[in-house]
Amino acid sequence: MSRNTSIQVTLKNISKHFGSVRVIDNLDIEFKAGTLTTLLGPSGCGKTTLLRLVSGLEPPTGGEIWFGEQDVSQFSATQRDVGMVFQSYALFPHMNVEKNVGYGLTVLKETKEKIRDAVSRVLETVNLEGFQKRYPDELSGGQQQRVAVARALVLEPKVLLFDEPLSNIDSKLRRSMRDDIRGLQQKTGITSIYVTHDQAEALSVSDEVVVMNDGAIEQQGTPRDLYQRPNSAFVANFIGDSNVVDAILVAEEEGSAIVLGETRIDLEKRKVENRPGKIKLSLRPEMFQLRETGDEKKHVMGTIAHSAYVGAVVEYFISTPVGELFTTAPVSEEQYAPGRKVFLHFHPDELIILPETRG
Ligand SMILES: Nc1ncnc2c1ncn2[C@@H]1O[C@H](COP(=O)(O)OP(=O)(O)OP(=O)(O)O)[C@@H](O)[C@H]1O
Ligand SMILES: [Mg+2]
Repeated sequence: MSRNTSIQVTLKNISKHFGSVRVIDNLDIEFKAGTLTTLLGPSGCGKTTLLRLVSGLEPPTGGEIWFGEQDVSQFSATQRDVGMVFQSYALFPHMNVEKNVGYGLTVLKETKEKIRDAVSRVLETVNLEGFQKRYPDELSGGQQQRVAVARALVLEPKVLLFDEPLSNIDSKLRRSMRDDIRGLQQKTGITSIYVTHDQAEALSVSDEVVVMNDGAIEQQGTPRDLYQRPNSAFVANFIGDSNVVDAILVAEEEGSAIVLGETRIDLEKRKVENRPGKIKLSLRPEMFQLRETGDEKKHVMGTIAHSAYVGAVVEYFISTPVGELFTTAPVSEEQYAPGRKVFLHFHPDELIILPETRG
C-alpha cells in the first residue's frame, strides 16, 4: 500500500487558547511530505494540543491548517482523513483482530468482501498475517500496538498521528517497536507526526525533530542537527546531556580563542558567528578525555567530586573553575577516585558555541 501521494502538512499562524490560557500562540510549522516528524518537549508544552489541532478534534483559536494544497481548517476530523494511534491502544476487547482493524470501514458501510481484503492486506503490512481471529487479550503488547497501527492504516489516511504510542511498554520491547513503526512509516510513505517524551526514541525514529517549549518552537531539524548544532541552552539540555557554561570569546589578529575560566582554547581555523564577548558553550559529557597530566592554560583542570559506574561508562562529576561538569569515560580506562586532580582534554571543534540569544 505504498503511496506516491504524500502531502505536506502546514500550520500557518496557529493559535490555541483555552479561555485565558494561551497554550499555542502564532505558531508556523511545516511537516514535510512523506517524513516522520517528532514533537519533543516537556510535559504540558502543548504537544497533544498540536496533534489534536492537526487531527481536527480541536478547532484552532486562529490560523490555518493545510494538507498539501488544501486548506482543511474548516474540515471535521473525519473529513481530514487522518489516522491516530494513542498511548492506550483502545482496542475493542470484545472484537477479534479482524473486526478491530476493519471497524472504521464498517462504519463507512463498505462491503464485507472489501473489508476482508483491506484488513488482510494491512495485517500483512504490519506482519500479523493469520492473526484475524485472535482477541486483544490473546496478543502481546507489541502485537496489540501493531493492531492499533493497522486500524489507523486501513483507512489509508493522508496523515498519521502518534501520541506517545510506546510509553506504556517496557524499554526492551519499546526499542524493537519503534523500529517497527519507523519501518512501517517508510514502507507506506504517509506523512507522520509523532509525540514523545523520550529523546532517544525521538532521535531514532525521526526524519526531523521539533523541540517545543511552552507552546513555541525552540528548534526544528534533523536529529543530527539538533545534537550537534543546538541553537539554545534549552535544546542542548533537552537533546542529550549537556553542560552549559559561560565563556568569553576573544578575537585577535592571530585568530579567535575562547577563554574558559583559567584556560584559553585557540579556535585555529574554526569560524565563529558570535560577536566577541560573553558567550555560552554547551559541553557534551562524552567530549572529554580525563588525564592526570595537562597544562592548566590549555586544559580545564578539576577535581573529581564523585563518580558512578553505570555499566557501559563511568560517570564523573568534576569541580572546575567554570562550575561542576558532568562527563563520561569508557570503563576500560582507569577509574579516578573522588578528590583526584584531573585535566579535561578535548578538541576545540567539539565545543558547541550557542548562538547569541535574541530579544
Ligand atoms: N481542554 C483544556 N482546557 C484547558 N487547558 C487545557 C486543555 N487541554 C490542555 N490544556 C492545557 O494546555 C497545556 C498543554 O497541554 P498538552 O496536553 O498539549 O501538553 P503535552 O505537551 O501533550 O503534555 P504531556 O507531555 O504531559 O502529555 C497544558 O498546560 C494543559 O493544562
Ligand atoms: Mg500529551
